[in-house]
Amino acid sequence: MTDRRPYIGGNWKMNTNRETAATLTRDVVEAIGDRASRVDVAVFPPFPYLLTVGAVLRERNSPITLGAQDLWLNPDGAFTGEVSAEMLEDCGVRPVLAGHSERRQVIGEADELVNLKVRRTLEAGLDCVLCVGETLEQRDAGETDKVNERQVRAGLAEVTPAQMPRVVIAYEPVWAIGTGKTATPDDAQDAHAKIRSVLTDLYGQHLADATRIIYGGSMKPGNAAELIAQPDIDGGLIGGASLKGADFGQIVAAAAG
Ligand code: 13P
Repeated sequence: MTDRRPYIGGNWKMNTNRETAATLTRDVVEAIGDRASRVDVAVFPPFPYLLTVGAVLRERNSPITLGAQDLWLNPDGAFTGEVSAEMLEDCGVRPVLAGHSERRQVIGEADELVNLKVRRTLEAGLDCVLCVGETLEQRDAGETDKVNERQVRAGLAEVTPAQMPRVVIAYEPVWAIGTGKTATPDDAQDAHAKIRSVLTDLYGQHLADATRIIYGGSMKPGNAAELIAQPDIDGGLIGGASLKGADFGQIVAAAAG
């Protein structure tokens, strides 16, 4: 076992509206109760609802952290449609996702851009959740570890040891996202252990041991405990099940032990 503090993130993706974002936040706060004292919990609403969600969290005095799903590299200027780290910070955001598979696969973000976003996030003083994971094709071709290693090394290029305590790695096998298919605890543990060994190579044992590596891909109340019980699985990044306060609360409860 480890003394890494569990981390559970709710990635709301492009879901909710002004009203349901507020309701869901209240439900999440209620469902989690005082468990946030044992688990780092973050929610990642769509940009337009950051202030709404942040206001509810503040009003409830909640330790849940407000996160963002993406950012752009410049502080301000002529970048139509983009949002900067400074703007996010101004809205009360701490962690920012980078390299989510939907941005890699749907929007076409490559490792180099993901790395620039990771570095920008950290340079701006924010925390980063770097997402990696193989597609079904890559898995079938036996390339899972190779893909994860490439995405971790590329994503963390030029990230300094001093910045690493603000980094969480999310292993999200693309074939498990939104499909109801989950990696078996053994397969997920194996991938996490390999990712940790890449971190050891990059940053040494101490930092690798201290870095949270969380699992994402159809994590639900029914499978969370078994996944999180694995020695190298330090929590989860939850999509679908984070849109129901009670389900998300149960996953946090599983992480709280
Ligand atoms: P699901 O939990 O819906 O599979 O999504 C996982 C995910 O992509 C979290 O970032």
